[in-house]
Amino acid sequence: MTTRIRLVEVTDANRAAVAAVRVHPSQERFVAPVEKSFQDAEDHPEGNPWYRAAYTDDVPVGFVMLSWDVTPGPGLLGPYFLWRLLIGAEHQGRGYGTAVLDEVVALLRAHGVPELLTSYVPGEGTPGPFYLGYGFVPTGEVEDGEVVLRLDLSSRP
Ligand SMILES: CC(C)(COP(=O)(O)OP(=O)(O)OC[C@H]1O[C@@H](n2cnc3c(N)ncnc32)[C@H](O)[C@@H]1OP(=O)(O)O)[C@@H](O)C(=O)NCCC(=O)NCCS
Repeated sequence: MTTRIRLVEVTDANRAAVAAVRVHPSQERFVAPVEKSFQDAEDHPEGNPWYRAAYTDDVPVGFVMLSWDVTPGPGLLGPYFLWRLLIGAEHQGRGYGTAVLDEVVALLRAHGVPELLTSYVPGEGTPGPFYLGYGFVPTGEVEDGEVVLRLDLSSRP
């Protein structure tokens, strides 16, 4: 079964509803809140932030932010880096996280992008297994205590 997810631009009309999407309190150590991501996007233009809300029907259930085609450098992974991904606590475990990645992957592949990087904070409840299950593999690097992963887009169906 495929899970229907739409990636939607964040505007003044939906910004508050998207910012209200929150993870479990126990997961807050793994990902920043949506509002903080808006702020980070403003504060870090060098990261060339690209972000979208994830909707199912008319309900915002998640948020995703990438660094889009940056020149990698100190503290900046890329060219394409999955910077934030979260699914609201009450919406998790239904395939939405996977569906968001599927949408992102399709978009990147349409642009001819060969690989997507991400990183995760290790520890109890870490999203590491989610990424590994999706097909990301460790690059062997650790950045600021976060394990760096790579997804090969060229070999995906
Ligand atoms: C990680 C996250 C995005 C996954 O979204 P989701 O919608 O719950 O994931 P899915 O329902 O698509 O799950 C896909 C698979 O990953 C597994 N999975 C999801 N989260 C997991 C976790 N934290 N640990 C282990 N496995 C996990 C699911 O069990 C499922 O496995 P299955 O295919 O064998 O059934 C979501 O749990 C989340 O927002 N977590 C908090 C924020 C976070 O850590 N974000 C990533 C850091 S940027």
